[in-house]
Amino acid sequence: MTTHTVCRTDEIAVGAMKAFTVAGHKLVVYHLQDGFFATQGSCTHVFAPLAKGKIIDGCKVQCPFHRARFDIRSGEVVDWANFPPGIQVLNVVRGEKALKTYPVTVAGNEVRVEI
Ligand code: FES
Repeated sequence: MTTHTVCRTDEIAVGAMKAFTVAGHKLVVYHLQDGFFATQGSCTHVFAPLAKGKIIDGCKVQCPFHRARFDIRSGEVVDWANFPPGIQVLNVVRGEKALKTYPVTVAGNEVRVEI
């Protein structure tokens, strides 16, 4: 694993997220109440850009396409794709899959991700 500086701490407000491409990996960095976290950039359902979704309950990211919800800290699925009605047909071939997460550290005012 290699440590990469991704942004400054003041570039992402608490409760916000931002997409980055780091060493060829698309990822999203989240700034939650208890610090910074990072996941892969695209939804595991059918690859929507998660940074265009929203953070809910202070700790989950909701996909903008079919509203799958993931725990930002662990990447685990909280609710699988359920919108619009009928999407469950697609879910037969696109079953639940957790997001990849990346370790994040803060050094001074730099947010660093291990890839
Ligand atoms: S692409 Fe994210 S829920 Fe379908």
